[in-house]
Amino acid sequence: MLKNKYILEPMDLTVEEMDEIFELAEDIMENPAKYAHVADGKIMATLFYEPSTRTRLSFTAAMLRLGGQVMGFSDPSASSVKKGESISDTIKTVSCYADIIVMRHPKEGAPRVAASATDLPVINAGDGGHQHPTQTLTDLETIRKYKGGVEGLTIGLCGDLMFGRTVHSLIKALSRYKNVRIKLISPKELVIPEYVRKNVMEASGMDYEEFNRLEDVLPDLDVLYMTRVQKERFFNEDDYIRLKDFYILNAEKMKLAKPDMIIMHPLPRVNEIAKEVDDDPRACYFKQMRMGMFVRMALVMKLLGLEA
Ligand code: CP
Repeated sequence: MLKNKYILEPMDLTVEEMDEIFELAEDIMENPAKYAHVADGKIMATLFYEPSTRTRLSFTAAMLRLGGQVMGFSDPSASSVKKGESISDTIKTVSCYADIIVMRHPKEGAPRVAASATDLPVINAGDGGHQHPTQTLTDLETIRKYKGGVEGLTIGLCGDLMFGRTVHSLIKALSRYKNVRIKLISPKELVIPEYVRKNVMEASGMDYEEFNRLEDVLPDLDVLYMTRVQKERFFNEDDYIRLKDFYILNAEKMKLAKPDMIIMHPLPRVNEIAKEVDDDPRACYFKQMRMGMFVRMALVMKLLGLEA
């Protein structure tokens, strides 16, 4: 079992707990049949107040592959949310039927409200521009698997660092590892929020530098983590249009990168990675996406106290 019954941000897991999740995920990957019935009779509720493809479907696949079942909504307007029901009342309702709750919400902090309304495990599947801890588990496990570990790496985070919750979560988690060099690459309008810079990066003494041009730092990177400009978080469409194609990683730019650099992306992508890059052996984003299912299987098992 884990120390906390909810996972709202990466710091809700200790480094040791994360390592246990990664080891379990790797065993599940290698021996899926061993885990096919560990969640028999258990029900997961997936409450998605915001669109998702990977997170919702990988949680669904994770629970089904563990032998459990899944219910919930992907469109809150088809639920009593449409009639004005509060998060707290929806969670109390779902708690009568399910064993574990996965929630995505556009408002920062909504999963914390959910966790305070129930005794069930609650997993934050992304809250506004804030945190996305299961993407972080996926990202760390991908780095472990394809770079052999996190310590000692130079990691570039590129794109919308202002609104990209996957970046905020990943920086938080990386702040606990030794000797990691972070290169923040963004347009000046989309730099990392001040609270992340002060409360996480400076508070932990992280080694970081900021860049505007990807080409200026690309040759130094072991990992390049690309992100989409988060259209849904912009107040002004003109700003989005001006910034959306600021970075486009293509085959020509990839000539500047190390031969063993890996390219990651939480996906969905829009234009920031040209399709031609998909055939580059350094492209890791589809493997990363698949990894998300195994990591979520392991997390669900740990939160529910299930064993093979
Ligand atoms: N990475 C991620 O959160 O993707 P979805 O928005 O499709 O769930």
